[in-house]
Amino acid sequence: EKLYVGVDVGGTTIKVGVCNPEGALLHTYEGPTENEKGAERIMENIAAYAQLSVSQLSRSWDEVEGVGVGIAGFLDIPNGIVVLAPNLNLNNASVKDFLIPRLGKPVLINNDANVAALGEAWGGAGRGVSDCVCYTLGTGVGGGIIINGRIVQGHNAAAGELGHISIVPDLEAIQCGCGKMGCLETVSSATGIIRMAKDAVARGENTTMSLVDNMMAKDVIDAAKAGDEVAARIVNRAAFYLGKSMAVVAVVVNPQRFIIGGGVSKAGEYLFEQIREVFHKYTPSGASKGVEIVPAELGNNAGVVGAAGLFLRG
Ligand code: BGC
Ligand code: NA
Ligand code: ZN
Repeated sequence: EKLYVGVDVGGTTIKVGVCNPEGALLHTYEGPTENEKGAERIMENIAAYAQLSVSQLSRSWDEVEGVGVGIAGFLDIPNGIVVLAPNLNLNNASVKDFLIPRLGKPVLINNDANVAALGEAWGGAGRGVSDCVCYTLGTGVGGGIIINGRIVQGHNAAAGELGHISIVPDLEAIQCGCGKMGCLETVSSATGIIRMAKDAVARGENTTMSLVDNMMAKDVIDAAKAGDEVAARIVNRAAFYLGKSMAVVAVVVNPQRFIIGGGVSKAGEYLFEQIREVFHKYTPSGASKGVEIVPAELGNNAGVVGAAGLFLRG
C-alpha cells in the first residue's frame, strides 16, 4: 500500500505522521527541531525523522509516495524556499533542494497553518464543509483558508497569513516579527498575551499575576477565569481583535465555518463566547448568518495529516 508522510516543523519539535491514501494516520513520531543549531540541522532532522517514522511502522521507504512539509513562515512554494520565518531558523533555506536528493521522493512544502487547515477540513472540525477558515493561536497566529476543499495560496502563497492582518490602531500598535505594526499576532498569540500580562504586572496594575520567567498564556487565561480583572482585560483584547479580524475575513471569503486551534484555543468556551460576540457585533448578517466559530478537533495532528494531504488533496 502507498504511504504519504506529513511533517510539521515547529520551533521546538518536528512532528511526523505517516498516512494511508485515505488520510488515516498510521503512525506518528516527534523529535526536537534543534532550531538553535540552524537551517541545515533542522532539515537533516526532517529527513531523519521522516525515515525513522516509516521504519518504526515496519514499512519500507519504497512504499512512500511523497513527503509533505508544513513550515511556519512565508514560503516560495514553487521553488521550495523559505522566504521569512518569524519564529524559525530557516530564512532563505532551500528545503526542497535539500530534501529531495536525501529522501529520493517528491517533496511539497506549504505553510504550517495552511496544512493544519487542510487537515481539519479533511478529517477534523471542517469535515463536510467546503469553505472554512482556520486560525492557529500559538507562538504566532497562523491562518489557512480552504475554499472548495482546497488551500487558497494567492500570488506569493501569502494568502491566509491571518496573523499579519494589520488591525491594532496605530496609537496602541507595537511592531510584529514580520516588521510591520499592529498585526493580529501581536495581541492574539500566546506570545502577545504573555507580553501584555508582563507589561501589566511591571506597570504595577492590581493583579494576582506575578512576573515569572516561564509565564504561559494558560496562566493568564486561568487568572482571567478566576476573576482577575487585569488578566480578563488582556484575554478580552486578544478575543476582540480575533473577532474583528474574522469580521474582515467574513466579508472577503464568507466561509461557513471558522476553526480555531493552537494552545490558546484550549481556553475553551470562555474565549469562544467573547470571539463570537465581537464577530456578530461587527459582521453584517448577510456574511455572518449560519457561520460557526468552533474549536479545532485534531489538535497536534492537524499539521501532519494536512501535510501528507498535500499529495492527496493539495
Ligand atoms: C507566520 C506564519 C505561521 C504562523 C503560525 C506566523 O508568524 O508568519 O507563517 O503560520 O506564525 O506558526
Ligand atoms: Na497560512
Ligand atoms: Zn506581522
